[in-house]
Amino acid sequence: MCGIVGYIGHRDAYPIIIKGLQRLEYRGYDSAGVAIYDGATINLCKTKGKVEDLKKKAEATMSLEGKLGIGHTRWATHGVPNDANSHPHYSNSGDLVIIHNGIIENYDSIKKELINRGYVFHSDTDTEVLINLIEEVKKKENVKLGKAVQIALNQVVGAYAIAVFDKHKPDEIVVAKLGSPLAIGIGEDEFFIASDATPFIEFTNNAMYLDDEEMAIIRLGKEIKLRKIKDDAVVYPIIKELQLNIEEIEKGGYDHFMLKEIYEQPRAIQDSYRGRLLADQGLIKMAGVDDNLEKFMNANRIIIVACGTSWHAGLVAEYIFEDLARIPVEVEYASEFRYRNPVITDKDVVIAISQSGETADTLAAIKLAKEKGAFVFGVCNVVGSTISRETDAGAYTHAGPEIGVASTKAFTTQITVLTLIALKLAKEKGVFSQSKYHEFLTELENIPSKVEKALLSNDLIEKVAAVYKDATNCLYLGRGYNFPVALEGALKLKEISYIHAEGYPAAEMKHGPIALIDEQMPVFVIATKRGHYEKVVSNIQEIKSRKGKIIAIVTEGDETVKELADHVIEVPETFESLTPLLTTIPLQLLSYHIALMRGCNVDQPRNLAKSVTVE
Ligand code: F6R
Repeated sequence: MCGIVGYIGHRDAYPIIIKGLQRLEYRGYDSAGVAIYDGATINLCKTKGKVEDLKKKAEATMSLEGKLGIGHTRWATHGVPNDANSHPHYSNSGDLVIIHNGIIENYDSIKKELINRGYVFHSDTDTEVLINLIEEVKKKENVKLGKAVQIALNQVVGAYAIAVFDKHKPDEIVVAKLGSPLAIGIGEDEFFIASDATPFIEFTNNAMYLDDEEMAIIRLGKEIKLRKIKDDAVVYPIIKELQLNIEEIEKGGYDHFMLKEIYEQPRAIQDSYRGRLLADQGLIKMAGVDDNLEKFMNANRIIIVACGTSWHAGLVAEYIFEDLARIPVEVEYASEFRYRNPVITDKDVVIAISQSGETADTLAAIKLAKEKGAFVFGVCNVVGSTISRETDAGAYTHAGPEIGVASTKAFTTQITVLTLIALKLAKEKGVFSQSKYHEFLTELENIPSKVEKALLSNDLIEKVAAVYKDATNCLYLGRGYNFPVALEGALKLKEISYIHAEGYPAAEMKHGPIALIDEQMPVFVIATKRGHYEKVVSNIQEIKSRKGKIIAIVTEGDETVKELADHVIEVPETFESLTPLLTTIPLQLLSYHIALMRGCNVDQPRNLAKSVTVE
């Protein structure tokens, strides 16, 4: 978590840094800070609060002149969010300044040593320890900044993406990465540094991404020097052309990124199968799967590792792979998997799902699976992200940037990509006949227009939201393919509206949660026609007899549930295995409207961050 931005070149650094921080605010928004160097004085401003608070404070209190600058937006790990703990941090001499995304785990012992040597600390952060360690190394070893950074980083344990500059070197920034992302934008006589490429997209299309344990010395007028931190080996930079465009990272007339991203789903789903699903030829082409078909075909089982919403997409995929392709699947929270000595062999295929491609627990699970010999396949949204590079092969979801902290289009595009893989394997294994396969491909192509239709219920959903906005608890129920959708619906509600919500398989209700039901309890039930419909109707009857309020997501034209429920929201009919792509939509909109009516910050819910790069 945390976002970092830096600039060195011929333009004024401040506006680039502030705008960049606003674009990276999804990564953390407890506090923010900026340091601008005009070649003589470093002007530094930091504050608890959002980038907007920083902007007001900086513009009222300091000179904004300078062609070199760094900035930071924080998700607190060590030390509460306050002004002192915000980044950037000075070294004791005031010569060196740092921004840092990550955690230095052994900071305490280093801090004690530095205190013994006379260093004084002004914050509770691990980052201030790191910058003073760099300063101490620089003095003691009498080396330049780049070397001092390298020596210091070899003494720390943890994760970092850092940018450091030295007051005596106005043309240089040193950056390094382990575990947290770091992109460098390369312009004409100017360089940009950021946690992702969004802060510099309007300035350059050329970027490079540091790999773990790499550092770069960025000097004006010189080629970037890349090195391995451990053994000083020279690394040859690979410059990539960015595919992002500026419209994708702006709100485009919507009040919130979350709403924009909900509405982008028809297009995003289409983009996720574009060029892969060739219905007219009866084909699915996916390079990552085609090139490794043997591995998938011979797999004893598939293990899916992910966190949060991506884990829910994994649960949907479990149903899809087992039902359609008849391959056994286990779905694991990456955080549990990595610590429980799992049994993995080289006959297993591990699929890691991650929107950001940076989630620390998922990354650690991947490393573990690779060590044990499994073939690891990534399903990521962010192009060039660490997970996309760490996996043996993969498929991007192509959803475009997801900026709202609550995942929406990432979820439906993950399901789409996983469905494509399952369909392909079903066909290869001969489980599907050509005609059944063809039917599926055609129906998948119909999904974007069906999602559009589901979005037309927005006004009705807003009215339903107004009825339940003051609820303190909610239940979400679904069966089969829609059980994970119930979990996802509950997660969406709790994370952005702070209402307590639980998702359950509908049949499990009678094993406990039914005790919660009274006239105060809204119960959101997914009761689509295909898939255990009668059973779910019985569950609805059970809720009704206990006076629970029923909000049902039903198939268009349903009459039975309409009789029983307090509100029904319709979605178009589709194949059972594709229903999650439709039933998710009203639940996303419900959470959005409820959160908005409760005055919550929809795009930046409290305590959360978009990219969880700490374990
Ligand atoms: C919820 C949400 C999180 C993420 C989780 C994993 O709306 O966004 O639960 O799904 O933190 O993130 P990724 O997919 O980036 O690995």
